[in-house]
Amino acid sequence: MYNSKITGLGHYVPENVVTNDDLSKVMDTNDAWIQERTGIKERRHVVKGDGDTTTTMGVKAAKIAIERAGIDKDDIDFIVFATLSPDYYFPGPGVLVQRDLGIKTVGALDVRNQCSGFVYAISVADQYIKSGMYKNVLVIGSELHSHGLDMSTRGRGVSVIFGDGAGAAILSRAEDTDTGILSTHLHSEGQHAEELSLIAPGMGKRWVTDIIEENDPNDESYFPYMNGQFVFKNAVVRFSEVIMEGLQANNLEVSDIDMLVPHQANLRISQFIQKKFKLNDDQVFNNIMKYGNTTAASIPIALTEAWEQGKVKKGDLVVLAAFGSGFTWGSVVIKW
Ligand code: UT7
Repeated sequence: MYNSKITGLGHYVPENVVTNDDLSKVMDTNDAWIQERTGIKERRHVVKGDGDTTTTMGVKAAKIAIERAGIDKDDIDFIVFATLSPDYYFPGPGVLVQRDLGIKTVGALDVRNQCSGFVYAISVADQYIKSGMYKNVLVIGSELHSHGLDMSTRGRGVSVIFGDGAGAAILSRAEDTDTGILSTHLHSEGQHAEELSLIAPGMGKRWVTDIIEENDPNDESYFPYMNGQFVFKNAVVRFSEVIMEGLQANNLEVSDIDMLVPHQANLRISQFIQKKFKLNDDQVFNNIMKYGNTTAASIPIALTEAWEQGKVKKGDLVVLAAFGSGFTWGSVVIKW
């Protein structure tokens, strides 16, 4: 059996910085509330019409990851793209990346697991490499939230949290078994599907024609909904469980963690986990302050920044963990 290794990382965020004060000009919110509840100071929003989409941001991040992996785009055997904000309802962005990168007709898979999307995508890529089917898999997490948020006071409980951006990783076959992805663990609990959801347009309840027909100015079904406190309570439990599950599967302990890169959902969640596991500040990476919650992009953006800052080094035990809509959650344990 082969081993799989992250050999290249890249990220891209749009230039446009939106501060908490900027948001307070369009809705009833304030910097103190947002920072106190979430830790977020600012986030990036794509300016409408400037050409960036979930796909183009993903491609920009991918180009950096490909270069850093020291491979050619034509060495990529497969694409896995995680997002909840695709350019089109269908087809998904995977094929658009294949087109935009100008690579041969490799397979392209779209992953729809929201905040856990990147962890799920890494798990898929890892299995393909370990089975011997592929040598180099491009994994992307990218989100363009800002065009789909309710930027009025009605939507403030959700809209202040989410930001735009993309991250990418190249997973490559490694001959040595000492380093690389040690394990991935994935979970779901569909019982709570609607607690963090975007219901319309969908074939289940409301399609576009229903929305147009009803033309209801109070319609909220096409904006994301989050039962914040319920999600928060589940998140802290599931994050803890799945990190422990990953460690135990490898006969490791919390004290073995060199760097935990949690999905950037809320700084309070990361701090809760840090405290619970008695990790010091150098063992947990957070950048939600700068980017908000970028769902499937948050882990690859954070992992890339941690690596760029020299905080993820050869031999380190790195743990990725995510929780989000579905509910879905998962962890990845890596010997770097
Ligand atoms: O990434 C996927 C996973 N997502 C998460 O893990 C997110 C989990 N949840 C959370 O992070 C938090 O629940 C939130 C940050 C979303 C909300 O924080 P909270 O402490 O749970 O606040 P809340 O929703 O209970 O709202 C408290 C108050 C309410 O006012 P009243 O009813 O007490 O008068 C809200 O209307 O804060 C109000 N509020 C706001 N005020 C100013 C809600 N949003 C805002 C806002 N600015 N943006």
